[in-house]
Amino acid sequence: MNATLHELLDLTVRWVHVIAGIMWIGNSLLFNWLDRNLRPLEQPKEGVQGKIWLLHSGAFYEVEKKLLPPGMPYPEKVHWFMFQNLTTWVSGITLLIVVYYMGGAAYMVDPAVANISTTTAIAIGVGTLVLGWLVYDGLWRSPIGKNSALTAAISFVLLIAVTFGLSSVLGGRAAYIHVGALLGTLMTGNVWFYVVPSQRELVAATRAGKAQDPALSYRAKQRSIHNNYMTFPVLFIMVSNHFPSTYGNTLNWLILAILMVGGAVVRHFMNIRFTYGPWLRYAAATAIIALALATILMAWQRGPTSAAASGPVSFVAARDVIQRRCVQCHSATPTDSQFTVAPAGVMFDNPEVIQRMAARIKERAVVSKTMPFGNKTNITDEERALLGAWIDQGAKIDQ
Ligand code: HEC
Repeated sequence: MNATLHELLDLTVRWVHVIAGIMWIGNSLLFNWLDRNLRPLEQPKEGVQGKIWLLHSGAFYEVEKKLLPPGMPYPEKVHWFMFQNLTTWVSGITLLIVVYYMGGAAYMVDPAVANISTTTAIAIGVGTLVLGWLVYDGLWRSPIGKNSALTAAISFVLLIAVTFGLSSVLGGRAAYIHVGALLGTLMTGNVWFYVVPSQRELVAATRAGKAQDPALSYRAKQRSIHNNYMTFPVLFIMVSNHFPSTYGNTLNWLILAILMVGGAVVRHFMNIRFTYGPWLRYAAATAIIALALATILMAWQRGPTSAAASGPVSFVAARDVIQRRCVQCHSATPTDSQFTVAPAGVMFDNPEVIQRMAARIKERAVVSKTMPFGNKTNITDEERALLGAWIDQGAKIDQ
């Protein structure tokens, strides 16, 4: 596909994805917040679970949560909340195809991780999403699923195993985004196969003046709790491609595991913060420990593996490496077939820019080794070490 068209497609779908995602997760957070802040009525009424007054955009909103008692007419218009989720998922999968699968090997495969073909990498990615849902759903429907604590523990171990497995075959960035896409797929499956059917049944029962089937609503509640805990981890993964020291680390799977636990615990902390149990302290402590651990791991990065550059390194030598390995993409006139516009606006065409970007060059090409992108230009460890030495020696451009 034409590069400009490809970028336009990426931009449009990403924009839709972010907007739909904000609407979906925003609604989910708002309804969770409402549930926690409902107050009992002064004079209790049958079926009414609580009430809240809100102030927004210049007026009051009076919201009551209730089940409709048998015989009460069904309201003319009831708003459902499910298409934000569908739009987020569909645009997310489209983005996965546009950016990662159509982007070729550069996004999916990192030869330093595993030398697999692009087709294999895509098959692994798609397979993870499909199998992931089947295993998760099957597990929770099976007899084991009756024991929630045990099944939650098994699900978590499986999720970490998937994270580890993907990080051992795909490029770090692709591994992360597939864990995120998997969680997003589980959430969407939960909405459409459990929450929506349970709500349909509730509406049908209300219309027929009957009580709701408790089994359906129990399952729907259980799946919606799962979704609640997945929100924060998914949001981190969606922004993780801006943080190469997470996905580019040798222990990237462990960093992701810790941050997912941290995100879920922070969500828990928000869920229970009005109940003030001892959980409050445990949750806060776990979140802090998780973040601290992730920080330590991120600082413990893979540095240059060979000490090729001993003695002073001249700018001429450093620039030579950049000419050979970086300007194919990072130039006003890139020659790379895929990146026809300098990525992130970074161009190494003149010495001053190279000097100004020295810290980022070190971070991306020497420490986290996430540049050159997918190592498309086959940089060697010696060349990485040489760039590192030139920067450590002050990144001088006058010698
Ligand atoms: C095949 C194309 C390609 C090559 C070759 C390449 N890059 Fe990049 N670079 C990218 C893309 C795509 C991005 C934006 C995505 C990202 O940041 O991961 C980027 C972003 C960057 C950024 C800006 C983001 C940041 O973290 O500050 C820096 C700096 C960078 N590259 C340095 C380098 C260096 C140094 C080399 C050579 C050793 C290099 N790149 C080679 C494609 C390339």
